[in-house]
Amino acid sequence: MKTQHLLLFISLFFLAACGEDDEFQAQHNQGKNCLECHGFTSGATLYKKIDGADYAVDDVARGYSLQLRLESGTILTYTKGNGYGNKLYNGDQGAINNFTPQVVDANGKIVNQSSQNSHHVGRLACNRCHTQNGLNGAPGRIVNYDYFGNLAVQTKQQ
Ligand code: HEC
Ligand code: HEC
Repeated sequence: MKTQHLLLFISLFFLAACGEDDEFQAQHNQGKNCLECHGFTSGATLYKKIDGADYAVDDVARGYSLQLRLESGTILTYTKGNGYGNKLYNGDQGAINNFTPQVVDANGKIVNQSSQNSHHVGRLACNRCHTQNGLNGAPGRIVNYDYFGNLAVQTKQQ
């Protein structure tokens, strides 16, 4: 009986550990500039609200992914960062030219993007400009809806 309890305890422990691996912690510096503390290539937080607050787990968009469509046509895909809504990319920075960042939903549909190729290798610290009120011309957060309505325009042109 005692052995069974011990085995149950051990398996529950590993189940819990696996679950955490999926999303790490819920809260982790949402909205802050990841690259101030980390050495990966790029980091970002996806939000539901254009003016979502720093650290506000309730304001972030969960279940979405982030990719950069390079001017060359190559797609770079981010992975989950620590914390809900946080994304990171770690790869060869030298391979990155001008790009269009794109937010993608769970079905693989692009739901938001910047203007065509308006971003470049100097813009990899996403949250540096995508602050609560926006800096350097950014409208605010990186959101999970078609902020500029430019996806509809793109579909019409095709
Ligand atoms: C103020 C500094 C700071 C900021 C900003 C920050 N982090 Fe972290 N991060 C840490 C520290 C310290 C740890 C290790 C302790 C922990 O897990 O909290 C960590 C851990 C992590 C980990 C777990 C693996 C590892 O490298 O230890 C990931 C992934 C991560 N952060 C991603 C991000 C992303 C993505 C962002 C931006 C949205 C971000 N962090 C913003 C300090 C920071
Ligand atoms: C130097 C400032 C700056 C940095 C850094 C930056 N952006 Fe932007 N971003 C802008 C500006 C300005 C716009 C509005 C004009 C445009 O679409 O290019 C914008 C617009 C966007 C939009 C559409 C509007 C919105 O807020 O959702 C997305 C999506 C986006 N950026 C994603 C990203 C991602 C992902 C990164 C990091 C790889 C990033 N940006 C880094 C300045 C920046």
